[in-house]
Amino acid sequence: MLELKDVMYYYKSQKDKVILNHISYSFEEGKMYAVLGTSGSGKTTLLSLLAGLDVPVEGEIRMNGVNIMQKGLNGHRKENISLVFQNYNLIDYLTPVENVRLGGKEDAMGLLKSMGLDESQSRRNVMQLSGGQQQRVAIARALASNAPVLLADEPTGNLDEDTANEIIAIFSELAHEKNKCVIMVTHSKELAQKADVILTLKKGTVAATEDTVFGEKVRGALLEQVEGISATDDLKDKIMEEIQNK
Ligand SMILES: Nc1ncnc2c1ncn2[C@@H]1O[C@H](COP(=O)(O)OP(=O)(O)OP(=O)(O)O)[C@@H](O)[C@H]1O
Ligand SMILES: [Mg+2]
Repeated sequence: MLELKDVMYYYKSQKDKVILNHISYSFEEGKMYAVLGTSGSGKTTLLSLLAGLDVPVEGEIRMNGVNIMQKGLNGHRKENISLVFQNYNLIDYLTPVENVRLGGKEDAMGLLKSMGLDESQSRRNVMQLSGGQQQRVAIARALASNAPVLLADEPTGNLDEDTANEIIAIFSELAHEKNKCVIMVTHSKELAQKADVILTLKKGTVAATEDTVFGEKVRGALLEQVEGISATDDLKDKIMEEIQNK
């Protein structure tokens, strides 16, 4: 559905630092993806390209087989993409209700309530909310949109564990019940496990879950072997720890 076709990218100010090195990958509807990678590995860059906020140096982004440049980046963004940004991107002179209404036609107050904001919070200036509350407003705004793709950059970064889990559950429902394509950047391996596919960005390349799962299996098999060898428990523990950290 949304596809990276041989995408290469560097920032014009730093041409010698290739952020994405000829990546091809196809995102499907009805699935939730988690994007992992160390800070600076290019996660936000990847989302900006998928959103049509920036364009690849080489290669293309395709939506349902068509290069998004052909349709026009504005059109792509309006029709296909809803975004939750790392810095929320809320309009600071509006209330939460007004911000959410910008996202689409759905019941703004109801959505905010489902995100745990009460009526008074929903009607005050959005800058008078805590960081976590602002983040929930940004998520509610994205949920109000009926775009087929939801891109979220560390949507749970400022939220406590329970709220983070709730948000992930909502995202997962959007993917599985409303057939959306949900792509979420996170630093949390634990949250990433709840996605259907985990993508890991590293040195300009991307590895999908299949590899991760394979790695887990290899690790599991090695651990079982260690159980069986004759060595002191201390030594076994040490070897196991090394395998776990590989
Ligand atoms: N506008 C820019 N101009 C030049 N370099 C940039 C620009 N924005 C980001 N970079 C660099 O590109 C690399 C990738 O940045 P990006 O923001 O995509 O990383 P990230 O994986 O999202 O990191 P984080 O987890 O910290 O959010 C980093 O080395 C960053 O310093
Ligand atoms: Mg980032």
